Amino acid sequence: MAKVNTGAALLSLCLLLARSAGGTTAADVDVEGTVRTEVENAIKSNPGVGAALIRLVFHDCWVNGCDGSVLLDQTPSGSNTEKKAINNIGLDGFSLIDTIKSKLGNNVSCADIVVFAGRDAARYLSGGKIAYSVPSGRKDGIVSSAAAADAILPHSTFEFQQLKDNFAKKNFTQEELVILSGAHSIGYDTTGVNTAAKGALDNSYYHANLQNRVLFKSDWVMRTDIKAGGDMAEYMNNATKWNNDFAATMVKLSKLPAEGSTHYEIRKNCRVTNQNQGF
Ligand code: HEM
Repeated sequence: MAKVNTGAALLSLCLLLARSAGGTTAADVDVEGTVRTEVENAIKSNPGVGAALIRLVFHDCWVNGCDGSVLLDQTPSGSNTEKKAINNIGLDGFSLIDTIKSKLGNNVSCADIVVFAGRDAARYLSGGKIAYSVPSGRKDGIVSSAAAADAILPHSTFEFQQLKDNFAKKNFTQEELVILSGAHSIGYDTTGVNTAAKGALDNSYYHANLQNRVLFKSDWVMRTDIKAGGDMAEYMNNATKWNNDFAATMVKLSKLPAEGSTHYEIRKNCRVTNQNQGF
């Protein structure tokens, strides 16, 4: 018994020393476990937040790579941030990201939290069928522009060729466009009503799309292409293939490298750059 207490005391001392040297340490926080617990609890009390977190990964990583730029309320340049973009209307999940950040401290980037939270939402909403690993170590950027988000994110009014070109710019194939669009099985229904409260993340999007039950032009125009239509039929008939391909494509999305900032950091507050702290 005395031995156990000595060990525990030594561990506490080490953690205390490490903390006084540089804040919260990786050793005293189970980063991925914390994100997972917080995400699962949040979805249990508000199912819609799961869809919001998955969309957040796309909207962060597509614009300047996965750099937490979508979370910023202000930047040193003072320009309108990505949150003000027309393409980002309805984006949500920010306060949950703040809660998770407050538990993880200053050694975990906001960009990593977005990617982990989206991953955990996908796992939970798919009943564990979509499960994947993603590396950590992303840094947060200091650039965030509404104009850039509107120029870079695909619009719901796009024709098929425009969607395809948009994905090609990020080195994503037409098939990956079809695969990731399957995320629209959650979040809204044909009348625009949010169905996330009952929605599972599964291949139901392909059933809905092939039965004319999708909301956006960018969804139904995919049927106008023979190859995309064939891929959609395949995913409609093979749920496991979609689960696996969706997971793999989310990994690719979550690895888009940060670009466009002159400086990278781990933000103290996900909504402002460290330079803007206190303003
Ligand atoms: C391919 C081009 C895409 C277009 C044009 C598009 C467009 C949209 C639009 C207009 C909404 C409704 C937003 C609202 O009013 O609340 C939406 C929701 C959503 N999108 Fe996409 N999207 C695309 C691709 C993706 C991808 C690649 C993902 C994820 C990997 C994704 C995940 C979601 C999710 C989960 C929602 C529901 C969000 C919620 O209910 O909070 N979308 N999308």
